[in-house]
Amino acid sequence: MTSSISKCLFPVAGLGTRFLPATKEIAKEMLPLVDRPIIEYGVEEALAAGCKEMVMITGRAKKAIEDYFDRSFELEELLKSRNKQTLYDEVISLSEMADFIYLRQHRPLGLGHAVLCGEPVCRNEYFGVILPDDVMVAEPSVLAQLLAVHSERGGSVVALEEVSAEDTSRYGVVAAENAGNGVFAVKDMVEKPGPEKAPSRLAIMGRYILSPAIFPILERQQAGAGGEIQLTDGIRTLISQEPVWGVVYKGRRFDCGTQPGWLHANIRLAMEHPALKEVVLRAVKEYEEE
Ligand code: UTP
Repeated sequence: MTSSISKCLFPVAGLGTRFLPATKEIAKEMLPLVDRPIIEYGVEEALAAGCKEMVMITGRAKKAIEDYFDRSFELEELLKSRNKQTLYDEVISLSEMADFIYLRQHRPLGLGHAVLCGEPVCRNEYFGVILPDDVMVAEPSVLAQLLAVHSERGGSVVALEEVSAEDTSRYGVVAAENAGNGVFAVKDMVEKPGPEKAPSRLAIMGRYILSPAIFPILERQQAGAGGEIQLTDGIRTLISQEPVWGVVYKGRRFDCGTQPGWLHANIRLAMEHPALKEVVLRAVKEYEEE
């Protein structure tokens, strides 16, 4: 049991088909959410949980992510020469705060397979996993909330959210015993069950702290729902070997993996941005007056 984790894995090798054509050549994680790419929110969440190594599992069309977290000397020189100190600081800050490691998933065989691609870097210790297209706005960060449960109880931890009966078919859903204070002992899980098959309405939401014991399990894992190697199936096997906890996180989630979700997140967060609130209100007013 540890009170800190140093590595956070970001599986970003998916094809983003729900966001085509925008994602044909641009990773969905690089689309802007208000003033920054979506992925930056995930990296900040991991930093806030104390992680110092960001392990990106990338695929085709994801080169922009590598460039984004690298230094850009031409841009830095230009900003310096124009005395744009604040922008200069923003441009270099993230690449200074963490180490970025890139591993390639050559074929999009599923989330479980993407996590397995992180084995060379993460095999010796507990590590975090963030699916960055679910943007979490929370204080403390959702990954830090999971880490608190891991520190207290050991084992792996998944983020949970109570969803409506109609929505269980969109997520992995757990069967779990209430351990108090929003923490559940996970006994089983099912990937994308319809309401009649769902063991509860507690769905897994894109944030994990995983034991390295997941790797040998994922190596043997057969394809499951949708013909993909599912992380949920791997964690299901892990439950028979080690404790897995679920925690109903406190915070707000924005699903930026689809166009309506991304648009909603942009409008909602722009309304909370002092300089942008007026822009949204003006656009709505103009529309209503037309
Ligand atoms: P999604 O289910 O959102 O799939 O993956 P996707 O391919 O990104 O998007 P759609 O469904 O086609 O629109 C959940 C997470 O798992 C990663 C994705 O990048 C995303 O962060 N993933 C998925 C991989 O890294 N590799 C895979 O083979 C599949």
